[in-house]
Amino acid sequence: MGKQGGKTEDKRARPGPGQEFWPGGLTPTLYWEGDTVMILDQRKLPEQTVFIACQDMARVIHCIKTLAVRGAPAIGVAAAMGLALAAKNIATDDPAEFIRRFIAKVDAMREARPTAVNLAWACQRVLSLLTDAPPEVSAMRALIRRESEIMLAEDIAINRAIGDHGAKLVPKGKSTVLTHCNAGSLATGGYGTALAVIYSARQAGKEVEVIADETRPLMQGARLTAWELVQAGVPVRVAVDSAVGVIMSRGLADLVVVGADRIAMNGDVANKVGTFNVALQAARHGVPFYVAAPLSTIDPDCPDGEHIPIEEREAEEVTALGGRRLAAPGAGAINFAFDVTPHDLVTGIITEKGVLRPPYGESLAQAKAGEKTSEHPRMKRGNK
Ligand code: MRU
Repeated sequence: MGKQGGKTEDKRARPGPGQEFWPGGLTPTLYWEGDTVMILDQRKLPEQTVFIACQDMARVIHCIKTLAVRGAPAIGVAAAMGLALAAKNIATDDPAEFIRRFIAKVDAMREARPTAVNLAWACQRVLSLLTDAPPEVSAMRALIRRESEIMLAEDIAINRAIGDHGAKLVPKGKSTVLTHCNAGSLATGGYGTALAVIYSARQAGKEVEVIADETRPLMQGARLTAWELVQAGVPVRVAVDSAVGVIMSRGLADLVVVGADRIAMNGDVANKVGTFNVALQAARHGVPFYVAAPLSTIDPDCPDGEHIPIEEREAEEVTALGGRRLAAPGAGAINFAFDVTPHDLVTGIITEKGVLRPPYGESLAQAKAGEKTSEHPRMKRGNK
Protein backbone atom coordinates (compact mmCIF):
# COMPACT_ATOMS: atom_id res chain seq x y z
CA MET A 1 0.00 0.00 0.00
CA GLY A 2 1.63 3.30 -1.01
CA LYS A 3 1.62 6.63 0.75
CA GLN A 4 -1.51 8.66 0.15
CA GLY A 5 -1.23 12.46 0.05
CA GLY A 6 2.03 12.32 2.00
CA LYS A 7 0.37 10.48 4.90
CA THR A 8 1.79 7.35 6.46
CA GLU A 9 0.45 4.15 4.96
CA ASP A 10 -2.47 2.49 6.72
CA LYS A 11 -2.09 -1.26 7.15
CA ARG A 12 -5.86 -1.68 7.00
CA ALA A 13 -6.12 0.09 3.67
CA ARG A 14 -7.71 -1.50 0.65
CA PRO A 15 -6.20 -4.47 -1.13
CA GLY A 16 -5.89 -4.49 -4.91
CA PRO A 17 -5.12 -7.07 -7.57
CA GLY A 18 -1.73 -8.68 -7.26
CA GLN A 19 -1.44 -7.94 -3.55
CA GLU A 20 -0.89 -10.56 -0.91
CA PHE A 21 -4.57 -10.65 0.10
CA TRP A 22 -5.31 -13.07 -2.70
CA PRO A 23 -3.00 -16.01 -2.07
CA GLY A 24 -1.71 -18.49 -4.59
CA GLY A 25 -2.67 -16.42 -7.60
CA LEU A 26 -6.37 -16.34 -6.71
CA THR A 27 -8.33 -13.82 -8.73
CA PRO A 28 -9.83 -10.89 -6.78
CA THR A 29 -13.58 -11.05 -6.25
CA LEU A 30 -14.10 -7.29 -5.95
CA TYR A 31 -11.99 -4.23 -5.27
CA TRP A 32 -11.83 -0.46 -5.54
CA GLU A 33 -10.11 1.05 -8.55
CA GLY A 34 -10.16 4.79 -7.91
CA ASP A 35 -13.83 5.64 -7.46
CA THR A 36 -15.03 2.55 -9.30
CA VAL A 37 -16.03 -0.77 -7.76
CA MET A 38 -14.66 -3.61 -9.86
CA ILE A 39 -16.67 -6.84 -9.58
CA LEU A 40 -15.55 -10.12 -11.09
CA ASP A 41 -18.46 -11.37 -13.20
CA GLN A 42 -18.88 -14.89 -11.81
CA ARG A 43 -21.64 -15.68 -14.31
CA LYS A 44 -18.99 -15.79 -17.01
CA LEU A 45 -16.63 -18.15 -15.20
CA PRO A 46 -14.88 -20.38 -16.03
CA GLU A 47 -14.84 -19.32 -19.69
CA GLN A 48 -14.02 -15.64 -19.19
CA THR A 49 -12.43 -13.55 -16.46
CA VAL A 50 -14.23 -10.25 -16.83
CA PHE A 51 -14.72 -7.43 -14.32
CA ILE A 52 -17.79 -5.22 -14.22
CA ALA A 53 -17.01 -1.56 -13.51
CA CYS A 54 -19.64 -0.10 -11.17
CA GLN A 55 -19.94 3.64 -10.68
CA ASP A 56 -23.35 3.65 -9.05
CA MET A 57 -25.20 1.58 -6.50
CA ALA A 58 -27.85 0.37 -8.93
CA ARG A 59 -25.19 -1.48 -10.86
CA VAL A 60 -23.88 -3.16 -7.72
CA ILE A 61 -27.41 -4.22 -6.77
CA HIS A 62 -27.85 -5.65 -10.26
CA CYS A 63 -24.60 -7.61 -9.81
CA ILE A 64 -25.86 -9.02 -6.50
CA LYS A 65 -29.32 -9.93 -7.85
CA THR A 66 -27.99 -11.61 -10.96
CA LEU A 67 -25.20 -13.44 -9.05
CA ALA A 68 -22.34 -11.71 -10.83
CA VAL A 69 -21.14 -11.38 -7.24
CA ARG A 70 -22.43 -14.02 -4.87
CA GLY A 71 -21.60 -15.86 -1.65
CA ALA A 72 -22.62 -14.40 1.68
CA PRO A 73 -19.44 -12.55 2.73
CA ALA A 74 -18.81 -11.21 -0.80
CA ILE A 75 -22.38 -9.90 -0.93
CA GLY A 76 -21.79 -8.09 2.37
CA VAL A 77 -18.62 -6.40 1.12
CA ALA A 78 -20.27 -5.56 -2.22
CA ALA A 79 -23.15 -3.95 -0.33
CA ALA A 80 -20.76 -1.73 1.63
CA MET A 81 -18.98 -0.71 -1.56
CA GLY A 82 -22.29 -0.05 -3.31
CA LEU A 83 -23.37 2.17 -0.43
CA ALA A 84 -20.11 4.10 -0.70
CA LEU A 85 -20.97 4.74 -4.35
CA ALA A 86 -24.46 5.81 -3.34
CA ALA A 87 -23.04 8.23 -0.75
CA LYS A 88 -20.71 9.71 -3.34
CA ASN A 89 -23.54 10.18 -5.83
CA ILE A 90 -26.08 11.82 -3.50
CA ALA A 91 -25.86 15.39 -4.76
CA THR A 92 -26.42 17.54 -1.69
CA ASP A 93 -24.33 19.29 0.93
CA ASP A 94 -27.17 19.40 3.40
CA PRO A 95 -26.48 16.78 6.13
CA ALA A 96 -30.14 16.09 6.99
CA GLU A 97 -31.06 15.72 3.35
CA PHE A 98 -28.02 13.49 2.77
CA ILE A 99 -28.90 11.20 5.68
CA ARG A 100 -32.53 10.94 4.57
CA ARG A 101 -31.54 9.96 1.04
CA PHE A 102 -28.80 7.65 2.22
CA ILE A 103 -31.19 5.72 4.48
CA ALA A 104 -33.40 5.10 1.42
CA LYS A 105 -30.34 3.72 -0.41
CA VAL A 106 -29.55 1.41 2.50
CA ASP A 107 -33.14 0.13 2.46
CA ALA A 108 -32.87 -0.60 -1.26
CA MET A 109 -29.55 -2.40 -0.84
CA ARG A 110 -30.88 -4.52 2.03
CA GLU A 111 -33.57 -5.91 -0.31
CA ALA A 112 -31.16 -7.17 -2.98
CA ARG A 113 -31.16 -10.79 -1.76
CA PRO A 114 -32.93 -12.24 1.26
CA THR A 115 -31.05 -15.23 2.70
CA ALA A 116 -27.42 -14.18 3.22
CA VAL A 117 -27.55 -12.23 6.49
CA ASN A 118 -24.17 -10.64 5.71
CA LEU A 119 -26.05 -8.26 3.42
CA ALA A 120 -28.25 -6.85 6.19
CA TRP A 121 -25.31 -6.99 8.58
CA ALA A 122 -23.13 -4.91 6.24
CA CYS A 123 -25.94 -2.40 5.59
CA GLN A 124 -26.47 -1.95 9.32
CA ARG A 125 -22.76 -1.55 9.97
CA VAL A 126 -22.44 1.17 7.35
CA LEU A 127 -25.62 2.93 8.45
CA SER A 128 -24.50 3.02 12.08
CA LEU A 129 -21.47 5.09 11.05
CA LEU A 130 -23.77 8.07 10.71
CA THR A 131 -24.71 7.95 14.39
CA ASP A 132 -21.62 9.83 15.48
CA ALA A 133 -20.19 10.98 12.15
CA PRO A 134 -18.93 14.53 11.66
CA PRO A 135 -21.75 16.80 10.44
CA GLU A 136 -20.22 17.61 7.03
CA VAL A 137 -21.50 15.55 4.10
CA SER A 138 -18.02 15.24 2.63
CA ALA A 139 -16.78 13.68 5.89
CA MET A 140 -19.71 11.25 5.95
CA ARG A 141 -18.96 10.18 2.39
CA ALA A 142 -15.30 9.62 3.25
CA LEU A 143 -16.22 7.61 6.35
CA ILE A 144 -18.55 5.32 4.41
CA ARG A 145 -16.00 4.75 1.65
CA ARG A 146 -13.30 4.02 4.20
CA GLU A 147 -15.55 1.56 6.02
CA SER A 148 -16.09 -0.41 2.82
CA GLU A 149 -12.31 -0.70 2.43
CA ILE A 150 -11.92 -1.83 6.03
CA MET A 151 -14.67 -4.41 5.59
CA LEU A 152 -12.94 -5.91 2.57
CA ALA A 153 -9.58 -6.16 4.32
CA GLU A 154 -11.22 -7.45 7.52
CA ASP A 155 -13.13 -10.12 5.63
CA ILE A 156 -9.91 -11.51 4.19
CA ALA A 157 -8.20 -11.48 7.59
CA ILE A 158 -11.20 -13.23 9.16
CA ASN A 159 -11.14 -15.88 6.45
CA ARG A 160 -7.49 -16.57 7.09
CA ALA A 161 -8.30 -17.13 10.76
CA ILE A 162 -11.17 -19.46 9.77
CA GLY A 163 -8.74 -21.36 7.57
CA ASP A 164 -6.19 -21.73 10.32
CA HIS A 165 -8.74 -23.03 12.84
CA GLY A 166 -10.30 -25.36 10.30
CA ALA A 167 -6.98 -26.74 9.05
CA LYS A 168 -6.50 -28.46 12.41
CA LEU A 169 -9.58 -30.60 11.67
CA VAL A 170 -8.10 -31.95 8.44
CA PRO A 171 -6.39 -35.32 8.98
CA LYS A 172 -2.61 -35.57 8.56
CA GLY A 173 -1.38 -37.25 5.38
CA LYS A 174 -3.75 -37.76 2.45
CA SER A 175 -7.40 -36.81 2.86
CA THR A 176 -10.40 -35.72 0.85
CA VAL A 177 -12.83 -32.95 1.74
CA LEU A 178 -16.23 -32.83 0.11
CA THR A 179 -17.76 -29.39 -0.36
CA HIS A 180 -20.98 -28.01 -1.83
CA CYS A 181 -21.51 -24.81 -3.82
CA ASN A 182 -18.65 -22.30 -3.72
CA ALA A 183 -17.52 -21.08 -0.33
CA GLY A 184 -14.15 -20.10 -1.65
CA SER A 185 -12.27 -16.91 -2.34
CA LEU A 186 -14.91 -16.08 -4.94
CA ALA A 187 -17.67 -16.13 -2.33
CA THR A 188 -15.83 -13.70 -0.07
CA GLY A 189 -13.56 -10.68 -0.15
CA GLY A 190 -10.80 -13.25 -0.62
CA TYR A 191 -9.45 -16.61 0.63
CA GLY A 192 -12.88 -18.13 1.27
CA THR A 193 -14.48 -19.84 4.24
CA ALA A 194 -14.83 -23.59 3.51
CA LEU A 195 -12.02 -23.41 0.96
CA ALA A 196 -9.91 -21.38 3.39
CA VAL A 197 -9.73 -24.59 5.41
CA ILE A 198 -8.30 -26.37 2.38
CA TYR A 199 -5.81 -23.59 1.59
CA SER A 200 -4.58 -23.40 5.18
CA ALA A 201 -4.37 -27.20 5.51
CA ARG A 202 -2.23 -27.39 2.40
CA GLN A 203 -0.04 -24.55 3.63
CA ALA A 204 0.41 -26.63 6.80
CA GLY A 205 1.70 -29.47 4.62
CA LYS A 206 -1.43 -31.65 4.55
CA GLU A 207 -2.16 -33.48 1.31
CA VAL A 208 -5.81 -32.58 1.06
CA GLU A 209 -7.86 -33.01 -2.10
CA VAL A 210 -11.39 -31.87 -2.84
CA ILE A 211 -14.62 -33.33 -4.19
CA ALA A 212 -16.78 -30.44 -5.40
CA ASP A 213 -20.50 -31.09 -5.79
CA GLU A 214 -21.51 -29.55 -9.09
CA THR A 215 -24.37 -27.69 -7.30
CA ARG A 216 -27.41 -27.55 -9.50
CA PRO A 217 -28.96 -25.44 -10.85
CA LEU A 218 -26.32 -22.72 -11.27
CA MET A 219 -23.29 -24.98 -11.00
CA GLN A 220 -21.28 -22.96 -8.51
CA GLY A 221 -19.35 -26.14 -7.64
CA ALA A 222 -18.47 -27.19 -11.17
CA ARG A 223 -17.92 -23.69 -12.52
CA LEU A 224 -16.51 -21.76 -9.57
CA THR A 225 -15.10 -24.09 -6.92
CA ALA A 226 -13.36 -26.27 -9.49
CA TRP A 227 -11.98 -23.19 -11.32
CA GLU A 228 -10.74 -21.56 -8.15
CA LEU A 229 -9.09 -24.73 -6.85
CA VAL A 230 -7.40 -25.46 -10.17
CA GLN A 231 -6.04 -21.90 -10.12
CA ALA A 232 -4.70 -22.47 -6.63
CA GLY A 233 -3.15 -25.80 -7.60
CA VAL A 234 -5.45 -27.93 -5.42
CA PRO A 235 -6.51 -31.32 -6.87
CA VAL A 236 -10.28 -31.30 -7.37
CA ARG A 237 -12.85 -33.66 -8.82
CA VAL A 238 -16.40 -32.59 -9.64
CA ALA A 239 -19.28 -34.91 -8.71
CA VAL A 240 -22.97 -34.70 -9.52
CA ASP A 241 -24.95 -33.67 -6.44
CA SER A 242 -26.77 -36.97 -6.29
CA ALA A 243 -23.49 -38.93 -6.06
CA VAL A 244 -22.85 -37.92 -2.46
CA GLY A 245 -24.40 -41.16 -1.13
CA VAL A 246 -22.23 -43.48 -3.19
CA ILE A 247 -19.15 -41.34 -2.56
CA MET A 248 -19.61 -41.57 1.19
CA SER A 249 -20.65 -45.22 1.22
CA ARG A 250 -17.33 -46.01 -0.45
CA GLY A 251 -15.38 -44.00 2.10
CA LEU A 252 -14.16 -41.48 -0.46
CA ALA A 253 -14.76 -38.38 1.68
CA ASP A 254 -13.06 -37.90 5.05
CA LEU A 255 -14.97 -34.82 6.01
CA VAL A 256 -17.40 -32.25 4.68
CA VAL A 257 -16.79 -28.52 4.90
CA VAL A 258 -19.41 -26.12 3.55
CA GLY A 259 -20.12 -22.40 3.93
CA ALA A 260 -23.25 -20.72 5.25
CA ASP A 261 -25.55 -17.89 4.29
CA ARG A 262 -27.19 -17.52 7.68
CA ILE A 263 -26.80 -19.41 10.93
CA ALA A 264 -29.61 -19.28 13.48
CA MET A 265 -28.82 -19.01 17.19
CA ASN A 266 -29.69 -22.69 17.74
CA GLY A 267 -27.09 -23.75 15.13
CA ASP A 268 -29.45 -24.40 12.20
CA VAL A 269 -27.58 -23.50 9.01
CA ALA A 270 -28.95 -22.05 5.77
CA ASN A 271 -26.68 -22.76 2.81
CA LYS A 272 -26.98 -23.52 -0.90
CA VAL A 273 -29.79 -25.93 -1.71
CA GLY A 274 -28.51 -29.50 -1.47
CA THR A 275 -26.43 -28.90 1.66
CA PHE A 276 -29.10 -30.57 3.82
CA ASN A 277 -28.86 -33.72 1.65
CA VAL A 278 -25.09 -33.75 2.07
CA ALA A 279 -25.48 -33.42 5.86
CA LEU A 280 -27.95 -36.32 5.97
CA GLN A 281 -25.59 -38.53 4.01
CA ALA A 282 -22.68 -37.48 6.21
CA ALA A 283 -24.62 -38.43 9.34
CA ARG A 284 -25.64 -41.77 7.78
CA HIS A 285 -22.01 -42.60 6.96
CA GLY A 286 -20.29 -41.14 10.02
CA VAL A 287 -18.49 -38.42 8.07
CA PRO A 288 -17.89 -35.21 10.10
CA PHE A 289 -19.93 -32.29 8.73
CA TYR A 290 -18.43 -28.84 9.35
CA VAL A 291 -19.72 -25.39 8.48
CA ALA A 292 -17.15 -22.61 8.00
CA ALA A 293 -18.42 -19.06 8.39
CA PRO A 294 -17.54 -15.72 9.94
CA LEU A 295 -19.38 -14.65 13.10
CA SER A 296 -21.20 -12.05 10.96
CA THR A 297 -23.11 -14.94 9.35
CA ILE A 298 -24.62 -15.85 12.73
CA ASP A 299 -27.87 -13.93 13.02
CA PRO A 300 -28.52 -12.89 16.63
CA ASP A 301 -32.14 -12.08 15.75
CA CYS A 302 -32.88 -15.51 14.32
CA PRO A 303 -33.76 -18.19 16.90
CA ASP A 304 -33.93 -21.17 14.53
CA GLY A 305 -33.98 -22.28 10.90
CA GLU A 306 -37.71 -21.77 10.52
CA HIS A 307 -37.11 -18.03 10.79
CA ILE A 308 -34.58 -17.93 7.96
CA PRO A 309 -36.03 -16.46 4.73
CA ILE A 310 -35.31 -18.82 1.84
CA GLU A 311 -34.83 -17.20 -1.54
CA GLU A 312 -36.88 -18.62 -4.41
CA ARG A 313 -35.53 -17.83 -7.86
CA GLU A 314 -36.83 -18.01 -11.43
CA ALA A 315 -38.04 -21.34 -12.81
CA GLU A 316 -35.75 -20.93 -15.83
CA GLU A 317 -32.69 -21.58 -13.67
CA VAL A 318 -34.00 -25.13 -13.19
CA THR A 319 -35.67 -25.82 -16.51
CA ALA A 320 -32.75 -24.64 -18.64
CA LEU A 321 -28.98 -24.95 -18.62
CA GLY A 322 -26.76 -22.38 -20.31
CA GLY A 323 -29.79 -20.87 -22.02
CA ARG A 324 -30.96 -24.19 -23.48
CA ARG A 325 -34.22 -25.67 -22.24
CA LEU A 326 -33.80 -29.13 -20.67
CA ALA A 327 -37.15 -29.75 -19.01
CA ALA A 328 -40.12 -30.86 -21.06
CA PRO A 329 -42.03 -27.91 -22.52
CA GLY A 330 -44.94 -27.00 -20.27
CA ALA A 331 -43.26 -28.22 -17.04
CA GLY A 332 -42.91 -25.74 -14.19
CA ALA A 333 -40.17 -25.81 -11.54
CA ILE A 334 -39.50 -25.42 -7.83
CA ASN A 335 -36.41 -23.33 -7.26
CA PHE A 336 -35.45 -22.85 -3.63
CA ALA A 337 -31.94 -21.39 -3.73
CA PHE A 338 -31.12 -22.52 -0.18
CA ASP A 339 -32.06 -25.12 2.40
CA VAL A 340 -31.65 -25.38 6.14
CA THR A 341 -29.52 -28.07 7.76
CA PRO A 342 -30.74 -28.77 11.28
CA HIS A 343 -28.15 -28.18 14.00
CA ASP A 344 -28.07 -31.79 15.14
CA LEU A 345 -26.41 -32.74 11.83
CA VAL A 346 -23.63 -30.15 12.25
CA THR A 347 -20.41 -31.45 13.84
CA GLY A 348 -18.94 -28.00 14.35
CA ILE A 349 -18.99 -24.41 13.09
CA ILE A 350 -15.56 -23.07 12.16
CA THR A 351 -15.33 -19.33 12.83
CA GLU A 352 -12.53 -16.79 13.11
CA LYS A 353 -12.68 -17.28 16.88
CA GLY A 354 -12.35 -21.06 16.77
CA VAL A 355 -14.56 -24.10 16.24
CA LEU A 356 -17.96 -23.82 17.93
CA ARG A 357 -19.49 -27.09 19.15
CA PRO A 358 -22.89 -28.22 20.40
CA PRO A 359 -24.83 -27.22 22.34
CA TYR A 360 -24.97 -24.35 19.85
CA GLY A 361 -27.46 -22.35 21.90
CA GLU A 362 -24.61 -21.74 24.32
CA SER A 363 -21.53 -21.67 22.08
CA LEU A 364 -23.07 -19.31 19.52
CA ALA A 365 -24.40 -16.91 22.15
CA GLN A 366 -20.98 -16.83 23.78
CA ALA A 367 -19.19 -16.23 20.47
CA LYS A 368 -21.57 -13.42 19.48
CA ALA A 369 -21.20 -11.76 22.89
CA GLY A 370 -17.40 -11.83 22.47
CA GLU A 371 -17.71 -10.44 18.93
CA LYS A 372 -19.49 -7.31 20.16
CA THR A 373 -16.75 -6.38 22.59
CA SER A 374 -13.60 -7.55 20.86
CA GLU A 375 -14.01 -8.20 17.15
CA HIS A 376 -15.09 -4.99 15.47
CA PRO A 377 -14.37 -1.70 17.22
CA ARG A 378 -17.06 -0.03 15.15
CA MET A 379 -19.66 -2.54 16.28
CA LYS A 380 -19.60 -0.94 19.73
CA ARG A 381 -21.52 1.96 18.29
CA GLY A 382 -24.76 0.05 18.34
CA ASN A 383 -25.09 -1.96 15.13
CA LYS A 384 -25.46 -5.69 15.30
O1 MRU B 1 -26.51 -18.32 -4.40
P1 MRU B 1 -25.10 -18.15 -3.94
O2 MRU B 1 -24.10 -18.60 -4.95
O3 MRU B 1 -24.84 -16.75 -3.43
O4 MRU B 1 -24.97 -19.11 -2.71
C1 MRU B 1 -23.75 -19.15 -2.00
C2 MRU B 1 -23.71 -20.21 -0.99
O5 MRU B 1 -24.67 -20.84 -0.67
C3 MRU B 1 -22.41 -20.39 -0.31
O6 MRU B 1 -22.20 -21.72 -0.04
C4 MRU B 1 -22.48 -19.58 0.97
O7 MRU B 1 -22.78 -18.21 0.70
C5 MRU B 1 -21.26 -19.57 1.71
S1 MRU B 1 -20.12 -18.51 0.97
C6 MRU B 1 -18.73 -18.37 1.87
